[in-house]
Amino acid sequence: MNLLVTGGAGFIGSNFIYYMLNRYKDIKIINLDKLTYAGNLENLKAVENNTNYAFIQADICDKEIIENLFQEYDIDYVVNFAAESHVDRSIVEPEIFVKTNVLGTVTLLNAAKNAWQDGDGFKEGKKFLQVSTDEVYGSLGKEGYFTEKTPLDPHSPYSSSKASADLIVKAYYDTYKMSVNITRCSNNYGPYQFPEKLIPLMINNCLNKKPLPVYGDGMNIRDWLYVEDHCKAIDMVLHNGRIGEVYNIGGHNERTNIHIVKTIISYIHDNVDSSVDENLIKYVEDRKGHDRRYGIDPTKIKEELGWYPETRFEDGIIKTIKWYLENKEWMENVTSGEYQKYYERMYSNR
Ligand code: NAD
Ligand code: DAU
Repeated sequence: MNLLVTGGAGFIGSNFIYYMLNRYKDIKIINLDKLTYAGNLENLKAVENNTNYAFIQADICDKEIIENLFQEYDIDYVVNFAAESHVDRSIVEPEIFVKTNVLGTVTLLNAAKNAWQDGDGFKEGKKFLQVSTDEVYGSLGKEGYFTEKTPLDPHSPYSSSKASADLIVKAYYDTYKMSVNITRCSNNYGPYQFPEKLIPLMINNCLNKKPLPVYGDGMNIRDWLYVEDHCKAIDMVLHNGRIGEVYNIGGHNERTNIHIVKTIISYIHDNVDSSVDENLIKYVEDRKGHDRRYGIDPTKIKEELGWYPETRFEDGIIKTIKWYLENKEWMENVTSGEYQKYYERMYSNR
């Protein structure tokens, strides 16, 4: 199995590479990543010399490099994680989101199509899996869940770019009958997540006794999934997902943001530093266009593929906090330099 993973130096991509290398012996993983601020080869230190793994630094928008890659390797599967992934950044700088998330996806799709075409059809055993997000469905009220039939209704430049990419992927199935799947997962948490996202940001600020910036009233709800459970789902869809189908991924773990923040404070208070307490919470100006609630209905992937989440939120969050405590050097490296400027820009006048 020759697997092209794009964005594999990021949070979910690096977890996915570990997951796949542990699970399969007859695998070659080619990780193509531009190494933006979010890409970090330190995440993959443990496999950098693994003969089943290769790294290429490149942009998914670079047509020539991508086409050459398909010439060089007989790629069976593409799993496209590469993206600009942070909603707050997309509000400030939308263009790069359209470039990477939309143009990059079509560049990859086209290279795969050209390499995989065989007469009027396609070679056997090939698949393009687009890693999408529940945010393409927009925001829920108090009731109901996102199913695969929920209309697309994205609000942020980030989610709109991801929805656009999904439509292009769908077009490659509808038009060319190319073998594709789209997965739409809820919020992930776990090791190697960049501390611009809620959970690692709050852990890092607690450890540094910095204010904990909670947007709006803190009552927005996200549906949290431990990253390894997401990786397992992607593997299942890659191998057994019905061609052309979308699969939602989520484990019914809805929590308000303030609950998450208080859970982190409480663990650090009890286990690390008793001076860390809820006085650190600072309610700040809300995110523009802030989606109120996400909640996935995972019935389809459970019934068709037998997927279920293995990690309960209560266990996963402790495992995650402990990982950051044991990997302080990783956190220090990613929060020095540019991150300080980012933090200042996003939070100093909030
Ligand atoms: P991340 O920001 O941690 O990682 C993104 C990776 O993509 C980085 O390694 C970065 O260097 C790389 N990249 C960015 N632009 C690139 C380009 N033009 N060419 C090549 N590489 C590029 O993101 P993540 O949280 O790991 O998310 C991965 C994917 O999963 C994204 O597509 C995201 O939309 C989706 N997703 C994320 C979540 C979540 O909770 N984090 C949930 C559902 C879906
Ligand atoms: O739902 C899946 C999506 O989850 C993915 O597609 C995105 O790539 C990923 O970034 C994530 O998006 P969110 O916007 O939900 O994640 P974030 O961690 O940025 O924010 C989670 C919630 O916490 C959200 O309601 C905003 C709030 N928040 C976030 C930050 C960074 C705060 O209150 N304070 C903060 O400082």
